[in-house]
Amino acid sequence: MLDVQEIHGYYGKSHVLQGVSLAVGEGELVTLLGRNGAGKSTTLKAIAGIVQPKGPKGGGRVVFRGKHVAGMPPHRIAAEGLCFVPEHRGIFKLLTVEENLKLAARRDSPWQLDDVYRIFPRLRERRSNGGAQLSGGEQQMLAIGRALMNHPRLLMLDEPVEGLAPVIVEEIVAQLKVIKAAGVPILLVEQNLQVCTQLADRHVIIEQGRVVYTGSNDAFRADEAVKDRYLGVGLAA
Ligand SMILES: Nc1ncnc2c1ncn2[C@@H]1O[C@H](COP(=O)(O)OP(=O)(O)OP(=O)(O)O)[C@@H](O)[C@H]1O
Ligand SMILES: [Mg+2]
Repeated sequence: MLDVQEIHGYYGKSHVLQGVSLAVGEGELVTLLGRNGAGKSTTLKAIAGIVQPKGPKGGGRVVFRGKHVAGMPPHRIAAEGLCFVPEHRGIFKLLTVEENLKLAARRDSPWQLDDVYRIFPRLRERRSNGGAQLSGGEQQMLAIGRALMNHPRLLMLDEPVEGLAPVIVEEIVAQLKVIKAAGVPILLVEQNLQVCTQLADRHVIIEQGRVVYTGSNDAFRADEAVKDRYLGVGLAA
């Protein structure tokens, strides 16, 4: 489905991604973990084409549904169905919830307005509210709802529950389970290990722009040493 091979990425001269390889299979949910500054967001941006992969061997390969997408502009990559929901959510604050959703609509998407409202009942309640009037959790739901309207073949989410109250976190986790159960593969960057282990099939840990661990959810849950070593005590679930 998504196969990322040895991607390199830079901010100026700083070599932030030093050959990251990972894969997400059909229907799979993979979390990308690592300490602050490890390169998680940059990895998603490089896959989405927002940071151009460059360096050895052209900066690496990103193959999505059989197509080489590394080097394409972000809008072309998005049009392939590789859908990135960035950390700061990118919703239009001056538009209403429903206008935000309709702007992202694609006729061929299996998720139309009512389907999104079914997954996110709060968005239906808030359909006429402006984007700026939404809580952080509602903004996140709207960002994910917009991605669904746009016919994602894979979703990449950067810290979707960061800073949200525990009840809202639970709500979003349940919603992500519904989306996963519908068959949408997800690459999730998340620091909350309880969230990660509830959702993921597999985990990938990066450190200083390199993959240092990959394991199944069961293996990861059982492995306290790996959590301590790569994620630090503050994060242990
Ligand atoms: N726009 C930028 N310009 C220069 N350096 C950047 C930029 N964005 C990130 N960096 C640096 O690149 C490295 C990787 O950052 P990145 O945001 O990918 O980390 P992260 O794993 O997502 O961290 P966090 O957990 O804090 O979100 C860090 O050292 C960061 O300081
Ligand atoms: Mg980040």
